[in-house]
Amino acid sequence: MVEHWMDWANLLLRWLHVITAIAWIGSSFYFIWLDLSLRKATRLPDGVHGESWSVHGGGFYHVQKYMVAPDSMPKELHWFKYESYFTWISGFALLAVTYYWSAEAFLIDSSVRDLSVSQAIGISIGSLVAGWIVYDVICKTPIGRNLLLLGAAVYMIIILAAVAYGEIFGSRAALLHVGAVVATWMTGNVFFIIIPNQKKVVASLNRGEAPDPTLGQQAKQRSTHNNYLTLPVLFMMLSNHYPMTFVGEDLWILVGLVVLIGAIIRDYFNTSHSGAAGLRIRWQWPTASALIIILALWTRPETLALDAQQVITDQQVHSIVMTHCAGCHAAQPTAAGYTAPPKGVILETLSDLQKYKAQVYAQSVSSQAMPVGNLTQMTLEERAILGHWLEKH
Ligand code: HEC
Repeated sequence: MVEHWMDWANLLLRWLHVITAIAWIGSSFYFIWLDLSLRKATRLPDGVHGESWSVHGGGFYHVQKYMVAPDSMPKELHWFKYESYFTWISGFALLAVTYYWSAEAFLIDSSVRDLSVSQAIGISIGSLVAGWIVYDVICKTPIGRNLLLLGAAVYMIIILAAVAYGEIFGSRAALLHVGAVVATWMTGNVFFIIIPNQKKVVASLNRGEAPDPTLGQQAKQRSTHNNYLTLPVLFMMLSNHYPMTFVGEDLWILVGLVVLIGAIIRDYFNTSHSGAAGLRIRWQWPTASALIIILALWTRPETLALDAQQVITDQQVHSIVMTHCAGCHAAQPTAAGYTAPPKGVILETLSDLQKYKAQVYAQSVSSQAMPVGNLTQMTLEERAILGHWLEKH
């Protein structure tokens, strides 16, 4: 029964998380576009840096951007921050419901590191906090003044995080945690830097003083990071539904490629929004596509080649499934802690196997996602036998 409520909590939190993330990313992409679409007109009021016209919903919008701020405060000022905060809060709650609640199955992989549940959860939370501190300190050092150098440093930290998590957690949890660390930076940037700096600007305007322009520069640095990190983070968040992305032991190679690919695609949009043409917007798609092909080739599974003469019998396959899957995936599971078949997937007969053919192949042959944490110690040979049978049926 508890599983039933946890599943509901999971679904509702995921719903919230996706909605808030859409709102956050949507408004952030909109403002990036708006910023880059600003053009200088001849008759702009004092302090206006540029303007942009757009048409939507049956009317025309005329937006002007004041740099650093207008002379006096407008009566009503809209802020954009709760989208980001609630994305993080719902994301963290989802992490707790999936990975902390079922830590033995999803967070801990004893073949990687034998952690207790409290150690694993402690490392998870501690590393999110530590990740923010390291990132924030680096942005504030002199490295932070050079956007490219800082970008390279941030890239290295992400790769190091992937190496470290790969040594601590199961690979699915490891990849998700790299995404969570980066997502924490993104909300941290909004909560600790961008919004407080904007509040300081508003306060100095209210006092009738000129705002400090470095406040805006700091916010710009962080919002550039958020912009380039959005696509890679989304990939890492979604990838835990695709076991082929976390098969390899060298998770950092995948992470390294994904961050590059996501940032390059984002750069295409940024550059073309600013009105650039020619080579400046022609290199991104070919480069990103080539990297995606490399990534897809790199994640190809290593399946054990079976002797061509080897005869695979239905009984053999049935017994593999009964030994390695049916403990959990049965109408009445026998595995401790399972009261219903996970995800409603029942694997007790050969026709069940055929029914879930593609999923079983993805979870147990092309990857070793199932059995979870390889609790039943399924061998590579058993996976190959199951794979051959599925290919033939
Ligand atoms: C110890 C329990 C356990 C064992 C043993 C087990 N599974 Fe699973 N399986 C789970 C859990 C838990 C989930 C739900 C995973 C999730 O929420 O992403 C799951 C999900 C699945 C899914 C659905 C995945 C999806 O996201 O659509 C498939 C397919 C699957 N398992 C196949 C297998 C196969 C094949 C075997 C045997 C080789 C197996 N499982 C062994 C616990 C188990």
